[in-house]
Amino acid sequence: MKDRILQDKQKVTLNNDVLMPLLGIGVYQINEDEDLENTIHKALEEGYRNIDTAMIYENEVGVGKAIKSSGVPREEIFITTKVWNADHGFDSTLKAFELSRRKINVDVIDLYLIHWPGKDKYIETWRALEKLYREGFVRAIGVCNFQIHHLQTLISASEIVPAVNQVECHPLLSQQELRQWCIEQGIQMMAYSPMMRGRLRNWPLFEELSKTYGKTMAQIVLRWHIQNGVAVIPKSVTPSRIRENAQIFNFELSTKDMDRISQLNLDLRIGLDPDQFLF
Ligand SMILES: NC(=O)c1ccc[n+]([C@@H]2O[C@H](COP(=O)([O-])OP(=O)(O)OC[C@H]3O[C@@H](n4cnc5c(N)ncnc54)[C@H](OP(=O)(O)O)[C@@H]3O)[C@@H](O)[C@H]2O)c1
Repeated sequence: MKDRILQDKQKVTLNNDVLMPLLGIGVYQINEDEDLENTIHKALEEGYRNIDTAMIYENEVGVGKAIKSSGVPREEIFITTKVWNADHGFDSTLKAFELSRRKINVDVIDLYLIHWPGKDKYIETWRALEKLYREGFVRAIGVCNFQIHHLQTLISASEIVPAVNQVECHPLLSQQELRQWCIEQGIQMMAYSPMMRGRLRNWPLFEELSKTYGKTMAQIVLRWHIQNGVAVIPKSVTPSRIRENAQIFNFELSTKDMDRISQLNLDLRIGLDPDQFLF
């Protein structure tokens, strides 16, 4: 398989000095019996070196198989998975992690995340992640869907500051305040649903910017994230889009156009609100 070496500008150094590729392929809702292997192979061929899965996506076995059959060395690929809500708590998180690790069939997971904060068990869950990190089973630990108040509670009660906060983020939910706060704490933000699941396609600003830069809506939006210092994990099973979404490192948006995209913010979620999704 064709192998592309990532340049330094395509990676970010996390708060524990681990390097993480800024671009990853998200595999939510990709069925491991159908599109998963082709999708991962295509992504690796196009230079992606970061794969975002989760226990709840029910495709960790397929992710592990696809990585093995790709021929790309394991150490070149950054694998993220997440502990699901039902497994919160110290012992149950350790068990869930071991199951994920076996399913993916690797010795070490690169990034292990708490999928949702929920109501009141995330500190206990975080203790388990800290143990896994200290024992070398994961190279970095982090969270998803954490608001500033969740992070403040977590940090004040823990020894390790999360390396990553993966949250819904796109031009209509720019997460400006959270992003700034994370920068100050040394937490890398990662955008899920980075293209708002394709819903920004016909927005006049993106049609105009597509003409200015000779790039598609997806490329403009993904580039906006990258220039904001935010990692992205776009999902696609379509080979042409997997390729398109990777071609975001060869152009630059002007400061003015970055601001125009940021001004689209409506604080509009398409996914669940972490403060409402209490389990
Ligand atoms: N931590 C969390 O709670 C959480 C929640 C949601 C998602 N995630 C992660 O984030 C990843 C991405 O988020 P997402 O799947 O919600 O949203 P997304 O990546 O913004 O959008 C995916 C959708 O956009 C389409 N698409 C892909 N590339 C496109 C392009 N160039 N032009 C037009 N449409 C395009 C895809 O269609 P095709 O596949 O048909 O090409 C798919 O329908 C997930 O796979 C998952 O790994 C995490």
